Amino acid sequence: MSHVGMHNGQDIDTLFDEETIRAKVKELGEILTRDYAGKELTVLGVLKGSFVFMADLIRQIDLPLDVEFLGLSSYAGGTHTSGEVKVTLDLNSPIEGRHVLVAEDIVDTGHTLSYLLRMLQNRNPASLKLCCLLDKPERRTVDVKPEYVGFTIPNKFVVGYGLDYDELYRNLPYIGVMMNAPGE
Ligand code: IMP
Ligand code: MG
Repeated sequence: MSHVGMHNGQDIDTLFDEETIRAKVKELGEILTRDYAGKELTVLGVLKGSFVFMADLIRQIDLPLDVEFLGLSSYAGGTHTSGEVKVTLDLNSPIEGRHVLVAEDIVDTGHTLSYLLRMLQNRNPASLKLCCLLDKPERRTVDVKPEYVGFTIPNKFVVGYGLDYDELYRNLPYIGVMMNAPGE
């Protein structure tokens, strides 16, 4: 069901409603519960975008796990990538020997994650995998393939459920396409 709502003067067309997201996150949680059984799991959220997804995802993983957050910023603002990745918050604890699952909101060009994966690999985790709620493969310029993907989406700028446009819309409970987003 598609529904266009107005938020901050923007038309936002629903792409995935709350129920659809909930079902997908539950499905991912079940798969992860099987795959990480018996392993020391650290779910590592990339701030800010992943915090809503991560909060829901960990509650669907029926295993002992710990959580860590890392702050990365790849966008100066708006929908345009600066190509530059900035660490805005580093990890609190070492990940050496842990099975690390990175939770991300979206993989777009792949720049952010490729930078992050290289940085984390240097810290010698037992394993390192990616779980992304959204994947925009058409936009990929760097070779990054998440092991776990919620939804594959077309090349549209989306907001809600943690994803922002100029820091707004993260609190929308659904994921929607900004109808009048500036193009690339
Ligand atoms: P990448 O480095 O190009 O893969 O960009 C990844 C980051 O860009 C994500 O973690 C988001 O913060 C942001 N981003 C990419 N596409 C979108 C989008 O459609 N909506 C909101 N943020 C996006
Ligand atoms: Mg962002």
